[in-house]
Amino acid sequence: MAAAGVNFIDIYQREGLYPMPLPYTPGLEGAGIVRSVGSGVTDFSPGDRVAWTGHLGSYAEVVALPAEKAVRVPEGLSLETAAGMMLQGLTAHYLVTSVCEIKPGDRALVHAAAGGVGLLLCQMISARGGQVIGTVSTDAKADAALAAGASHIIRYDREEVDSRVKEITDGRGVSVVYDGVGRDTFEASLRSLAPRGVLALFGQSSGPVESFDPQILNQLGSLVLTRPSLAHFTQTPEELRWRAGDVLSALAEGSLEFTLHGIYPLEDAQKAHQDLAARVTSGKLLLVM
Ligand SMILES: NC(=O)c1ccc[n+]([C@@H]2O[C@H](COP(=O)([O-])OP(=O)(O)OC[C@H]3O[C@@H](n4cnc5c(N)ncnc54)[C@H](OP(=O)(O)O)[C@@H]3O)[C@@H](O)[C@H]2O)c1
Repeated sequence: MAAAGVNFIDIYQREGLYPMPLPYTPGLEGAGIVRSVGSGVTDFSPGDRVAWTGHLGSYAEVVALPAEKAVRVPEGLSLETAAGMMLQGLTAHYLVTSVCEIKPGDRALVHAAAGGVGLLLCQMISARGGQVIGTVSTDAKADAALAAGASHIIRYDREEVDSRVKEITDGRGVSVVYDGVGRDTFEASLRSLAPRGVLALFGQSSGPVESFDPQILNQLGSLVLTRPSLAHFTQTPEELRWRAGDVLSALAEGSLEFTLHGIYPLEDAQKAHQDLAARVTSGKLLLVM
């Protein structure tokens, strides 16, 4: 193992929001060098540089994983960058290609736009000709989201999100909201959508969304709500390789940027979780062995 990525899901699992069989080793992405392969494995050999996501146990010095979860790391890309891009990078990729395919002129609201997934969404949406309205909680995060391609910023700690979105879009609303914040943003997300808009509720960093009456989707304009997971968008090795190939090659070519918040030694994994939960990070947190 060269490095493992830290993700918000690691916190949900540790806290029990997503129940886990105990004991378990956390960590759903990483990269390293193949030490040995099983007898039926023909795609990889010892010495290959690989990265993966979707297999638990990356907070470790050595991992064993199914070969179909691994992808090759292109020449010129560091193992640390590859480790940090698998889960968040592939998530941003499926959100803009498959959940709601972004086309030129589309307007998207991205919550926590300076977070790990948020910075990647800003880049991928603007690269496809879409316009990003990003929400953030500090001025430094506003600068980071603007640098990643957001054209408007809403300080959701002090501004009313849906009324600002309506102002920015001349009263119409956005065609898609990417919401990984959950409880605190859910209602404003729905109210920010244009008729027939899509709310991709892909996380809950502020807590789970409370029960609601689906009639509100009708009242606000025949809205579509989905609650997607990366696992369902990387169901086959072919789909995983397509998404990882797009993301890792864009990084290697320089058309996609990796923003590193910080590198923590494995023994400081607790501190990494505390920083991520405390909203003080922007970009990726990595654990090195
Ligand atoms: N469904 C999937 O396939 C999938 C895959 C990957 C990630 N996710 C989800 O995507 C979201 C982002 O993940 P990430 O790893 O990239 O994290 P992140 O966005 O880097 O960190 C979370 C951010 O959420 C914002 N936030 C708002 N209210 C918060 C609160 N009460 N506590 C903590 N943070 C709060 C903060 O940004 P501000 O300070 O700007 O508010 C914080 O920096 C998470 O919900 C995660 O579960 C889902």
